[in-house]
Order: sequence, then C-alpha cells, then structure tokens
Amino acid sequence: MAGLIPQSFIDELVNRVDIVEVVGGRVDLKKAGKEYKACCPFHNEKTPSFTVSQNKQFYHCFGCGANGTALGFLMEYEHMDFVEAVEELAHSIGIEVPREQGISHHNHVDTGDLYVLMAEAAVFYRQQLRQHAQAAEVIDYLKGRGLSGEISQMFGIGYAPPGWDNLLKALGTSQQRIQKLAELGLLITKDEGGYYDRFRARVMFPIHDRRGRVIGFGGRVLGDDTPKYLNSPETPLFHKGRELYGLYEAKKNVRKLDRLLVVEGYMDVVALAQFEIQNVVATLGTATTAEHLEMMYRVVPEVIFCFDGDRAGKEAAWRALQNCLPVLREGRQARFLFLPDGEDPDSMVRSAGRDGFMRQLEASMPLSEFLFAELASQVDVDSMDGRARMVELARPLIAQLPAGVFQQMMVARLEELSHMGSGALGSMVGKEDRQTMRMPAATIDQRVSPVRRLIALLLQYPLLVQQVQDLESIRCVQQRGVELLVAVLEYLQQQPQASTGMILEHWRNEDAGRHLQKLAIESLDLPEEGLQAEFSDSLSHLLALDAEVQREQRLAVLSARPLSGLSDEEKAEFSRLIGGYGQG
Ligand code: UTP
Ligand code: MN
Repeated sequence: MAGLIPQSFIDELVNRVDIVEVVGGRVDLKKAGKEYKACCPFHNEKTPSFTVSQNKQFYHCFGCGANGTALGFLMEYEHMDFVEAVEELAHSIGIEVPREQGISHHNHVDTGDLYVLMAEAAVFYRQQLRQHAQAAEVIDYLKGRGLSGEISQMFGIGYAPPGWDNLLKALGTSQQRIQKLAELGLLITKDEGGYYDRFRARVMFPIHDRRGRVIGFGGRVLGDDTPKYLNSPETPLFHKGRELYGLYEAKKNVRKLDRLLVVEGYMDVVALAQFEIQNVVATLGTATTAEHLEMMYRVVPEVIFCFDGDRAGKEAAWRALQNCLPVLREGRQARFLFLPDGEDPDSMVRSAGRDGFMRQLEASMPLSEFLFAELASQVDVDSMDGRARMVELARPLIAQLPAGVFQQMMVARLEELSHMGSGALGSMVGKEDRQTMRMPAATIDQRVSPVRRLIALLLQYPLLVQQVQDLESIRCVQQRGVELLVAVLEYLQQQPQASTGMILEHWRNEDAGRHLQKLAIESLDLPEEGLQAEFSDSLSHLLALDAEVQREQRLAVLSARPLSGLSDEEKAEFSRLIGGYGQG
C-alpha cells in the first residue's frame, strides 16, 4: 500500500518522470520509430521485443509479457517495494516525498534510521573480533575452518562476545535507540522489563540486501551448543524468504556473473569464496522460494542448486525444482548438484579443491534430467502401466512451465521416455493444464464487449476522452464494467494529459488495477487513423446494446402482468416495445 504517501503525489510523480530515462538509465534502449526497444531485461533473448513507449509512459515485452509503468519497472528491475520505488523516482527528479499524517492504519516505521543502526551493529561486531579479550579464540576457530582474514573481511564477519548486554551498552545510548535495536531483533525484551542481547558468544555473519545495506545477521556458536545458528527474526528490514545470503557480495566481487550456485549454509558461501568460487548464495535456512529464483534470474541465466545427497537433500531439491518450473522462461536454466552423503559444499571444496569442485559442477544434472529421473524412480518404467503413471505425474509439472521451446522439449522427452508416439502428448499437456498457466500477452477477442473495448482504447489513447460529451447517459448504462469505464472517463476529464502509465498508477492498489493492466497491453489491431471512429462506434454500440437490454427488461416486467391489469399508457408502451423487435 502507498501507506502515507498521498495518491495525488504519486499521480504527479508519474506525470513528471520520464519512463525512457528511468529504463534507459538501466537498459540500453534504441529508438525505433516512436518507441524505444531493447533486449528484454526480464528474460533472455537475442532480438529485442522489449518496448518502451514515451507517449504511454509504459513498457511492454512482447516476448515474456512483462509490462508496467516507471514505478513498476523499478520494482521489478531493482527489486524494490512500492515505497522504495516512489522514493527512488522522487529522488531522481529532486523532489521530496510528502507524508500524510495519521491516515495509515499501521504505524509507519522510519526505516532510514533502522538501516543506520544496523550498520552500527555490524561495525560493533567487527570491532569485537579485533578487540575483545576472547577474540583470539574466535580467530583460531575461523582459521581452523580455513578462512583467511581477507575473506572474513570481505563478508564483514564479526563476533558477538559472551555476556547479556555488550551490544545494549555499546549502542543503546538512548531509550529511543534501545527501542529500535529491539525492533531490529538485536535486543530481546525481558518479561520482567528491560532488554538483553539476542546474539551472545557467536560468530556473526551480516546479511546484506541487494544494495549492500545490512539487514540482518546469522550467528554461529563456536562449539556444539544449540541452536547452531541463530538468525535475525523477521523485522521491518529483514524478510527471510526474500533474501539471499551472499548475493550482494557475488555481484560486487565477480566481474561477469553468468551463473549462481545456491547452497544451504553461510559457511558454504564463505568457504567457497575462500577457493575463489564467489558466485554463491545461500537461502537462509528456508526452501528456495519463487521470489528467490526471480531475484537470481534477474542477475544470471543459470542457477545451480547444491544439495546433500541424502534424503533430506533430495526432498529440498525437489521442492526447489517445483518452485523453479513457473519461472523457467526462455533462456533460464537450472541444474542440480548432489553431493556425496555427509558432505556439504564447504567440506567438499576443502577436500576436493577448487578444480575438483568445479568438475563436479560441470557434471551437475540439468533440471529436465532430475525431473525425469525422479519420476522414473517412482514408477516401474518397464511396464506400460508404470509409464502411463509417469505421464500422469509429469503432466502437471510440465504444464507449469511457461509455454515455449523448453516446454515443448520436455513434452518430447516425456513422449520418448513413455514410448508414446511423437505429438501424442502435445494436446494433453496443452489443454486444461494450460488454463492455469500465466497467459501470454492478451490477444483480441472478436466478441469483446464494447465496455472492454472502450476502456482498452482509453487506456492506450487517453486523448480519446475528448470525444465523450455525455457522460451521464453512459453512467446509466447497465452493463458489466461500466462503473470502471465511467471512473476512467472521470479521471481523464480531470487529468486530460494523463498517460497510460499515470492511469495505471492511479489504480495500482485497487482490484480494477490488474484488469486495467491487462487492457493496457491488449492488442487493438487498429491503425491510428481508425482510433476515433472505433471509439465512437464502440460507444454507439454500447448505448444501443444497453437500450436493447433495458427494453427486454421492461418487456419482461410488463408481460409478467395480466394484460387487463395494464394502464392504457402501459399498453401503448408494451406494443411499442414489441414493435421494436421488428426493427432490430
Ligand atoms: P547446516 O546445519 O547444514 O550448517 O545448516 P552448516 O552451514 O553446514 O554449518 P557449519 O558448517 O556446521 O558451520 C545450513 C543452514 O541452515 C540454517 C543456517 O542458515 C545454516 O547455514 N540453520 C542451521 C539455522 O538457521 N539454524 C540452525 O540451527 C542450523
Ligand atoms: Mn557445514
């Protein structure tokens, strides 16, 4: 939600920024006619189908269907939330984001201060690693695990000393700061009042967001106590399912990042870095989410999952595979590396060395292979029944893949494995399963309702609002979607210079917003000269259709009553209405 940012400011902001500058600053845009083109930053492609329209203040990829406004682009591309994107845009044109007081139902957290405090905490833990009386023991521990000072520094590793109030005393210099440290999960509230340090006697791994700000910590015990790792709780800055440990470091330290390795632990990331394998991230003790995957594929085309070879590892891998399927657009690849039982990437690289580990990586399993191997292990592929069962198991999985070459290849492979003739499964995977998949860019339906057509036209060519003289008669129309049409018309009458992007932003937080977004990319299949005629035809069509509907309704009311009960006036109306049929 926009929270405390007034909608009028967002309207104004989207009106003032230029999407061509916003996108052009991040993607190499080339002018093509009235629009700008580039290879799509959201999927891998060789010929550009990503289009930015300055007129509409809107981008759209004809390849993968991604689309949105300048704000939407920042959210997608920079992985920002709405408020961050608004702030970034406002900052880019040198204006302040105003805040309305008291209308938000949740307390607004001023995250700016929280980031600063988090950075102070990271500095404090690092200092302790150098200064604390017991620091030598910790450094020995890290050395024992093969880590150099250089790598420790690269990851900002620190030390939370034993004791209940080290951080509290050092950073909690005011009641307000203490409050915030607690909000950040660094302090815990005592039942009897007061606070104590969450992290005690642990090696501290700071977790950075994609901009390099510290947002949380993982702390490991030095011995065998439990829990082995303690992580920051969910806080206003830290959302486990959305963060990847090591992504910031990988982006910073690897010049040309072309693939990412996903491992389970902090130590795996750090140990691999010690062997100059720096393209590594860890999920923070959670399964790999679709959001994680989107984040990674935004940076690289290939993701390799490293899992233990044991049962738990296989299960985690299978979950990761399932989350991968819907995001595997053209050009995105996933592979799986299963380590020998009892090994993790940390122990593996230390015993096999860099080259040994790299060889393992090269031999990792493509997703398709893992998928079919796993299914084949669940059935008896030598029997016809077993193969039929395999088809049943594979079908919903393959259907989750976006339509495209990769999906077709998977179907072909399934046909081969199940000994079915080529093409036999094409329609099977096609039909009902495809309904649940994300639809590609909308195509025009010949029987679209005039309401839908009018909204699509207005969205894409807002100036058409000038053709509407009589809003009142449209308001009276009883057709689905008319309220939205009227609302768009009213908005445009007040904002005659609005772009497509502005309209979409105005409706972002409402249910109708999604609907509008679809209509904004619907192909109109019209030359520009035909727009005005199409608009007025659709409008006449709508009014005529409505007259017809109202006539039928009135007829139904009148004919439900005995003829003898009708007044003369009503009888005249009745025969007029019936006569209307002949003319239609
Ligand atoms: P592992 O138990 O595999 O630990 O947990 P590890 O990474 O090999 O650690 P070392 O080598 O013994 O130091 C993998 C990940 O699961 C999460 C952490 O993110 C850890 O890195 N985890 C594990 C926890 O959050 N809490 C725990 O108690 C254990
Ligand atoms: Mn380990």
